[in-house]
Amino acid sequence: MSDAGPILEVKDLRVHYGAIEALRGISLEVSDGQVVALIGANGAGKTTTLRAVSRMLRPSGGQVRFRGEDVTRLPSHAVVARGMAHAPEGRGIFLNLSVRENLDLGAYLRRDRAGIASDVERAYTLFPILAERRAQVAGTLSGGEQQMLAVARAMMSRPKLMLLDEPSLGLAPQVVERIFGVLREVNASGVALLLVEQNAHKALQLAHRAYVLETGTVVMQGTGRELLASPEVRKAYLGE
Ligand SMILES: Nc1ncnc2c1ncn2[C@@H]1O[C@H](COP(=O)(O)OP(=O)(O)OP(=O)(O)O)[C@@H](O)[C@H]1O
Ligand SMILES: [Mg+2]
Repeated sequence: MSDAGPILEVKDLRVHYGAIEALRGISLEVSDGQVVALIGANGAGKTTTLRAVSRMLRPSGGQVRFRGEDVTRLPSHAVVARGMAHAPEGRGIFLNLSVRENLDLGAYLRRDRAGIASDVERAYTLFPILAERRAQVAGTLSGGEQQMLAVARAMMSRPKLMLLDEPSLGLAPQVVERIFGVLREVNASGVALLLVEQNAHKALQLAHRAYVLETGTVVMQGTGRELLASPEVRKAYLGE
């Protein structure tokens, strides 16, 4: 795979929940090292897309290629092992384990103890509040602290691609700034991001490319800048 090639290629992805077709053939690409945003109304299929890409659920059709390999039928741990991490909607952290234990679990497939320890320190540098709270059980963290832990935990597998499902949901403005600042830094270190966000403005500012989803299909795509300038996007997703 060349450096600028796609790290993720999703082709005609379909997902059914019983009789309901939640994804009706989604195609998208993430180039290596890029930030791609998925925006769209509630129920459009953003979370379902991330879950199907990371193999948390089984698509009923279509293909997911990651780093040039068809991973559509692999179990999710095998996809993690290949360098994809998913910080899911609702955070997906272990509420009865400590901050430190959650971070260690993010590295569960790694055996390099020294590297893990230095990545824990890096997480504490990016999110100093997590360092202060390292021994506290995650369930007693504030919502914003839990969100930071979810992002920090996803980084612990040293991913090449991170899937992030609404990392800024419900957070105070300064915490949103902090999270986006960290995402920018993570991306600058060479990690590609596929980012689902209700905060369309911030997501499109960060994103190289973006896709707009409506009822399980891609209805618009372009660079972050193009979508920020689009009258339809401004009206529907930027509250103008
Ligand atoms: N487990 C499930 N069983 C049945 N239907 C589901 C299930 N999960 C999601 N759906 C439906 O699939 C559609 C897409 O849901 P999804 O969670 O992907 O939307 P979303 O774009 O992430 O929305 P939001 O912005 O509200 O998080 C919705 O209509 C939802 O009701
Ligand atoms: Mg969702």
